[in-house]
Amino acid sequence: MLELTGVRAGYDAQEVLHGLSFTVPPRQIVAIVGVNGAGKSTTLKVISGLLRARQGTVTVDGRPLAGGSAAEAVRAGIAHVPEGRQVFPNMTVRENLLLGAYTAGKAAAPRLMRCWASSPSCRPRSARTPDRCPAASSR
Ligand SMILES: Nc1ncnc2c1ncn2[C@@H]1O[C@H](COP(=O)(O)OP(=O)(O)O)[C@@H](O)[C@H]1O
Ligand SMILES: [Mg+2]
Repeated sequence: MLELTGVRAGYDAQEVLHGLSFTVPPRQIVAIVGVNGAGKSTTLKVISGLLRARQGTVTVDGRPLAGGSAAEAVRAGIAHVPEGRQVFPNMTVRENLLLGAYTAGKAAAPRLMRCWASSPSCRPRSARTPDRCPAASSR
């Protein structure tokens, strides 16, 4: 379960999140809807440790994240998939996917197979080809 309690966050003098609280129960999908500039991406940045909350807490399964550490968030099972094409353009598709599976250990290989099954165009033709798909090769 993911829980935000009284989160305040922003940029320089501008506060964007004014005490945000919500819960994502286990095995549920929660969508955040709002106009441009409402603070959706800021909320996700706080959850994934890319932006430190000025106040409030983020907990995963009851354990508080210290905040401001993406590495800690990843270890807690949080993954941030940014909008646009913010992949690592100089790495292959396979390398980008493996990086995303960094904490998965042995589970990474079957997950890669599932990715390639649903997106065959991203599957490398051979280990020697530059296995890029459009999302990774354009900026
Ligand atoms: N890196 C940043 N530096 C300064 N202000 C930012 C930055 N990112 C977003 N903002 C501002 O924070 C507010 C919320 O933005 P954002 O969370 O990106 O909104 P949304 O994702 O809902 O469109 C906006 O006023 C935006 O201009
Ligand atoms: Mg956004």
